[in-house]
Amino acid sequence: MTEPRYGWTPSIDQVKPRGLPSPRGPLSALLIDQLAGPVRGVGRPPAYSGDPVHGEDAALALYVLYELHYRGFADVDEDWEWEPSLLATRAELERDYIARVTELVGPVPEAGDVVTGLQAAMSVVEGPSLSMYAAERADLRELRELAVHRSAWQLKEADPHSWAIPRLAGRPKAALIEIQKDEYGEGVQRDMHQVLFGLTMESLGLDASYGAYLDHLPAVTLATVNLVSMFGLHRKWRGALCGHLATFEMTSVAPMGNYAAAMRRLGMSTDSRHFYEVHVVADAHHSSVGAEELAGGLVEQEPELLPQVLFGAAAVSVLERHFADHVLDSFGQGETSLLKPLERRSRRLVVA
Ligand SMILES: [Fe+2]
Ligand SMILES: [Fe+2]
Repeated sequence: MTEPRYGWTPSIDQVKPRGLPSPRGPLSALLIDQLAGPVRGVGRPPAYSGDPVHGEDAALALYVLYELHYRGFADVDEDWEWEPSLLATRAELERDYIARVTELVGPVPEAGDVVTGLQAAMSVVEGPSLSMYAAERADLRELRELAVHRSAWQLKEADPHSWAIPRLAGRPKAALIEIQKDEYGEGVQRDMHQVLFGLTMESLGLDASYGAYLDHLPAVTLATVNLVSMFGLHRKWRGALCGHLATFEMTSVAPMGNYAAAMRRLGMSTDSRHFYEVHVVADAHHSSVGAEELAGGLVEQEPELLPQVLFGAAAVSVLERHFADHVLDSFGQGETSLLKPLERRSRRLVVA
């Protein structure tokens, strides 16, 4: 097996959708069962078990429903995407999801200007840094698990924010495009951040195929992606989506540097760290574009969206905190942070 190097791109099979995941409760079981068949009304679905945000059943159900708007699943009829009864089920689930997220977030700090407000909203939760743990202590098994968690987002990084492009105009739209052109590697496949993350995964002996690890990912991970999918799919949440992206950009530089340091400490090659190092540079710039031009530009046009922008920032911060707490707790107890442990690596690791 040749070592993956910068310039690696996924095979056609790796970008194709995978099959449906295994169900995790009554609602996900019914939906997955129905999606495997012909398109038809789904009727009244059973209640999900557990919490609407962090319960396994609801998180997977929502994740699967959202995935129909991304690349879908192998052997699932594409007409399911707009099946009215399925959309009605999704709408119910979203109502419960956002109500619970609002509860978890609590009061969002008020602020006079966007940048100060974003900084305050991001600080609604505090706790130990996951990336610092990675830089200082994580072993290879833990680093591989972290990459698997992040694959849910990174292999579709930027895509839900792109849904805002036709919904914005003028200054915030230009800012979004400026960020997105970097995210998509300025149109060069090997430089797309999604592809660079695939290179990191392959270097870690993981499978960078889209959706390959869905059955490994706990609700606490899926919930973070569900948030941005929900904001991205609904025009009415465009403010929260911009707050979400601004937050990602504003909080990225130090963690990305920490993950690069973790990879370096474990002897991983320059190429395998490229994803993180690119972000250290790019997000130093994206940070101000996201806060001042994207979020600031939107609020200049629609001042009434400021609370929603800040809610988006607080929501992503809170869900990321839950995710980090779960992973750090699991690592602290010497347990897997995934739903099931990874198989032993099949590929020799690239060491610089
Ligand atoms: Fe990126
Ligand atoms: Fe960025």
